[in-house]
Formats: sequence, structure tokens, C-alpha cells
Amino acid sequence: MKYKSQKVAYWFFATCMLLFSLQLVYGFIMGFAHMGLDGLHSWIPFNAARATHTNLLVVWLLCGFMGAAHFIIPDEAGRELHSVKLAYVQLISLIVVGVVSVIGFHLNWWEGRKFLEIPRPLDFLVVINVLMFIFNIGMTVLRGKKYSTTGIVLFMGLFSAALLYLPGMIYFDNQTMDSFFRWWVVHLWVEGVWELIMGSILAYLLIKLTGVDREVIEKWLYIIVGLTFLSGILGTGHHYYYIGTPKYWLMVGGIFSALEPLAFLGMALFAISMYRRSGRSHPNKISLYWTIGCAIMSFVGAGFLGFAHTLPQVNMYTHGTLVTAMHGHLAFWGAYAMIVLAITTYALPELTGRKLWNSMSGMLAFWLSNIGMVGMTGAFAVAGVTQVYLERKMGLDFLLVQKELHVHFLGLILAACLFTAGIILFIWTFIQYGLPSDEMIGASPSEEEPAHGHAHAQLV
Ligand code: HEM
Ligand code: HEM
Ligand SMILES: [Fe+2]
Repeated sequence: MKYKSQKVAYWFFATCMLLFSLQLVYGFIMGFAHMGLDGLHSWIPFNAARATHTNLLVVWLLCGFMGAAHFIIPDEAGRELHSVKLAYVQLISLIVVGVVSVIGFHLNWWEGRKFLEIPRPLDFLVVINVLMFIFNIGMTVLRGKKYSTTGIVLFMGLFSAALLYLPGMIYFDNQTMDSFFRWWVVHLWVEGVWELIMGSILAYLLIKLTGVDREVIEKWLYIIVGLTFLSGILGTGHHYYYIGTPKYWLMVGGIFSALEPLAFLGMALFAISMYRRSGRSHPNKISLYWTIGCAIMSFVGAGFLGFAHTLPQVNMYTHGTLVTAMHGHLAFWGAYAMIVLAITTYALPELTGRKLWNSMSGMLAFWLSNIGMVGMTGAFAVAGVTQVYLERKMGLDFLLVQKELHVHFLGLILAACLFTAGIILFIWTFIQYGLPSDEMIGASPSEEEPAHGHAHAQLV
């Protein structure tokens, strides 16, 4: 690491590990409930578990993006972070808001709006928190010694994500209007501005790990930003098919959302081609695995499985079923969880000076979690298609169908155990790195290592 203030990133990443673990506990609670084993129901009803599972996911991912920003922005701007103290205050207050929300969900203090369950009063605290973050990062960029495309795209992604939180806070007493604007947050985040955050972190990692010229990589970044906006903004229409909005959304949503996979395909091709061009090999192989893996799995989960139910003719049957959960898991995992784990594995040796980049536990963490997540996606897919057939085609009762699906959740639990074993190994490796150290300021552990030539054979 070049700058002392980059050390803050470590604490954001450590918070991710904690919240991620807790998220998985709630995943298991729901998985068992789907099998009919719902012994915790009176303390943790399904709605509370679901809100906790998905909100913890969003918070740990945001926390990971913030950690990435605290690590990348000083490096790209060529100066220390504007205020380290503010960064710590912001992190701690974010954790406090998160804990209060989770406790609230268990006490039935929540809004029944998927992903935006936190009650309105807490939303204001979130806004204050995010303003602190944007101010701190913004000042660092503004007063930086240099401006880089990667740094600016990352900042713009974070800034727009903050702005897009606001439409979800408008109060409506009309269900259609409320849904309409809820999608400005949920859809325009994951299929819009978060893609900028992902693209820029990907670009940063590829610059560092492959040694390909910054100019080449940043040109790709422009193309990805262009493709994202071209398809993603009007692609919001794929959530407006049957919620009471005008009919033209069927056409607009269908056409533009069908183009959305292009941005993810672009990122996958981009990462693979930069990797193939890499002249020097960076010793941090695990980070390269996560980086290339993220680009590929996001295309599968978001692009391919998103397309699978995005046409109105299909969505009419699959809407709100476990088919959605199938896509939601692999998309969130491939695009956003994996990019956070990629930057974490890149940053850890830089922050702590320990070179655990080729450890067995780190490699196993990558493979077990990915194979486990593909298995989980398969289990949700089989359950989802069965549900669509029985409930929507045959017209059987919702709860009757849920009983028929119990057996598929045994498959989900088994795959989730594999996945969780991978994540435990990831966290184990994280802990082994130890705390960030001042000795590493101005030094990069990778530069002490002799170059090994091409990394090709070892990855494929
Ligand atoms: C990384 C990017 C993406 C993530 C994280 C993601 C995640 C999700 C999640 C969590 C939902 C459920 C939302 C809710 O019901 O509140 C959802 C719904 C949906 N997604 Fe994605 N998605 C991504 C990209 C895409 C893409 C590129 C497409 C289309 C090509 C797509 C198509 C859909 C559709 C059609 C629905 C609605 C499902 C329904 O009617 O129940 N998604 N997505
Ligand atoms: C131990 C591992 C996990 C298990 C057992 C699990 C299980 C579940 C279950 C049972 C649901 C509820 C489905 C329903 O509505 O009936 C759910 C929802 C969800 N989970 Fe997980 N999950 C796990 C890990 C993850 C991870 C790692 C992610 C993200 C990277 C994730 C993202 C989501 C999302 C986005 C939803 C909402 C889906 C939707 O909107 O339909 N889960 N999970
Ligand atoms: Fe969407």
C-alpha cells in the first residue's frame, strides 16, 4: 500500500466478513423452513429471516464497495484519504444502523417492501451516513494529484448509488406507484450504477494483476459504461409488465432488458482478453481467480439467467417464484459478492505484508464456494420450474405446491453446506493475514517477487 490511510479499508472488509457470516445463518433458517422444518418460527418468522438475509447482503456489499473505495481512491488520486477519522465514524455508524435494523425486523418493525424493508426513520440515518462517505471520498478525488478514469467511474458509481436511494424514500399510498419507484432503487442499482462500481474495481484489479496498459483497460471501461446505460435504464421496464403500469412497458422492457446481458458479456470478454494479454504474472494468483471468476460468473448469473425470465411471455409465469431466487443468488454472487472478495484478496497482502496468496485454504475457498453456489442455483432452478408448472400452469394452490417442493430444499441445504465451507475457509484465510501493518506503507509485497512469466497454464 502506498498511503497510510488505505488501512481503513481493512476494517470495512473485516465488517463484511462478519455480516456475510450472519447472512448465511439466516439463509439456512429459510432453507430449513422451506423443508417444513420451521422450529424457530415464533422467534424468527420467515419474513423476518428473509428481510434480514437480503438486507445484510446489501449492507455487506455496500461495506465492501466502501472498503474498495478507501483502498483504491487514494491510490488512483495519488494522495491520502481526506479524513481517516471521518471514515471510522462512518463505518461505526453504518454498523449501528445495520444492527438496529436487524433487531427491528425481529420485533416486526419493518416495511414490507422487498429489499427496502428498513423503516423510513432509519432511512434518514442511512442518508447522513452515506453523505459522510461521499464527502470523504469526493474530497479525496477532488484534491487528488491526478484524475484517472478508473477512479472517476468508481466515484460516479458510488455517488449515483447514493442519489438513487432517495426515490425509495418517497411516500405513496398507492401500491403501483410505490412499486414503480422501488424499482428505481433496486433495478437501477444492480443493473445500472452498481455495474459502474463493479466495472471500475474490475479495471483496477486488471491493471494491477495483468500489467496491461491502463489506456487499453480504461477504453474497455468506457464501452461497458455505455452498454450499461444503453440497456439498463429502459430495461427497468422488465419490472413494469404486470404491476398496473401502461402497456408500452411490455415492449420497452422486453427489448431493452434483453440487451442487458451485453454489458456483462462485455465484462467477461474484457477480463479474459486482458488476462490473455498479460505480459507479466502477478504473484497474487488467488485474487486473479476471483477477478476473472467474477467476470464470468456475473455473465452466467446476471446475463444468462436474467435473460431466462426477462421476456414478458416468460415473466408472466415466473414472476415472483423461486425462478427469481435462482437468478438473484447467482447474479448477486457472481457480480457483487465476487468482486468484493476479489478486491479483498488483492488488498490483504498489500495491507498486512503477508504473502498468503497461494495458500491451500484460499484456493479451496474459491472452488468450494463457487461449486456450492452453482449447486444452490441448480436447486432453486428445479424448485422454481416445478413451482411454475404446478402453481401457474396447473393452477394448484400456493401452499400445496410449497409442500411438493420440500425435497428440492434438501438439495439446496447440501449445496449451501459446500458453499458455506468455502466461505469459512475464506474467512479463515482472512484471519490468518492478521492486522494491517504500518511497515507496509510505501511498499508493495508483490514487487519484491521476481516475475514468473505467463500465468496462463496455472489458471486454466
Ligand atoms: C448483477 C446484476 C443483477 C442482479 C444482482 C440481479 C438480481 C435480481 C434480484 C435480487 C431480483 C429480485 C428482485 C425483487 O423481486 O425485488 C431480480 C429480478 C429480476 N431480474 Fe435481475 N439481477 C441482475 C441482472 C439482471 C439482468 C441483466 C436481467 C435481464 C437480462 C435481469 C432480469 C431480471 C428480471 C426479469 C427480474 C424480475 C423477476 C420477477 O419478475 O420476479 N436481472 N434480479
Ligand atoms: C447458506 C447459503 C444460503 C442459503 C441456504 C440461502 C437461502 C435462501 C432462501 C431459502 C431464500 C428465500 C427464497 C424465498 O423467497 O422463498 C433466499 C433469498 C435470497 N438470497 Fe439466499 N441463501 C444463501 C446465501 C446467499 C448468498 C451468498 C446470496 C448472495 C450472494 C444470497 C442472496 C439472496 C437473495 C438476493 C435472495 C432474495 C431472492 C429473491 O428476491 O427472490 N443468498 N436465500
Ligand atoms: Fe431488473
